[in-house]
Amino acid sequence: METAVHPPPHGVDDLLGVSGLEAQQIVHSRSHGAQSATVPTALCGIAAAQAAYTVPMTHGHRIQGSVILRELLPEDAEPLAAAYIRNRSHLAPWEPARDDFYFTAAGQAEDVEAKIADCEAGRSLPLILEDGELIIGRFNITDIVRGPFLSGHLGYWVDQAYTGRGIATAATRQVLSMAANDGLHRLQASVLVNNQASQTVLRTAGFQKIGLAEKYLKIAGQWQDHLLFQRLLDRD
Ligand SMILES: CC(C)(COP(=O)(O)OP(=O)(O)OC[C@H]1O[C@@H](n2cnc3c(N)ncnc32)[C@H](O)[C@@H]1OP(=O)(O)O)[C@@H](O)C(=O)NCCC(=O)NCCS
Repeated sequence: METAVHPPPHGVDDLLGVSGLEAQQIVHSRSHGAQSATVPTALCGIAAAQAAYTVPMTHGHRIQGSVILRELLPEDAEPLAAAYIRNRSHLAPWEPARDDFYFTAAGQAEDVEAKIADCEAGRSLPLILEDGELIIGRFNITDIVRGPFLSGHLGYWVDQAYTGRGIATAATRQVLSMAANDGLHRLQASVLVNNQASQTVLRTAGFQKIGLAEKYLKIAGQWQDHLLFQRLLDRD
């Protein structure tokens, strides 16, 4: 949840036509070395383990213009703190209450470390939207459960200065492709009843409403009702 669609507390080829986006896969600007731009992105070794290839976490996908979606890295803590400071009032109605430490580089460093560890354990895919040196949003799949469930929770937000340009819609398509390539069967998202923008993003990406979950998450300090959505990812 950071995030537009809230994961629960503590998250293809032709899926939505994303194959075109796969073709736009690029090497991340801060990558640690030249990587092939044609190798599918593998995050934290999850897809690598399943698909028998290993790709360092250095790739990104061009989402729109100069905006790139890529994996979370340890060095993101400082620009993330800056992004959360810029967007504090923009995000406050949609997120859990945050203490001041969360808006510091040290606070973000703790959070980033925990998220990367979770990713390495195969439980999440933490992603960053960046425009040059600026972090302008996040997409996360969290609470990944495998076995007969193969499901995860999708969450996201976009910097206030970048909203209304179709970035969340395009990035959601890309994340669906990554989740499907990772072998997931399903993504779930939960949205506040009054969050029309986020519900539009989900519906456009093919999510279907499951129903209302009363007092589902404590957002902005209050237990609040959420609409639950799911998106099946199987090709058959
Ligand atoms: C929700 C959010 C991610 C959308 O990002 P975005 O990049 O602006 O989304 P898009 O540009 O792809 O637009 C999504 C759709 O919502 C619509 N929309 C945008 N703001 C809206 C609003 N206030 N009311 C109704 N619809 C709105 C857009 O017109 C667009 O619809 P369209 O595709 O029919 O034109 C972004 O607003 C955000 O980060 N909000 C704050 C965090 C948040 O909402 N968290 C939710 C927690 S549940």
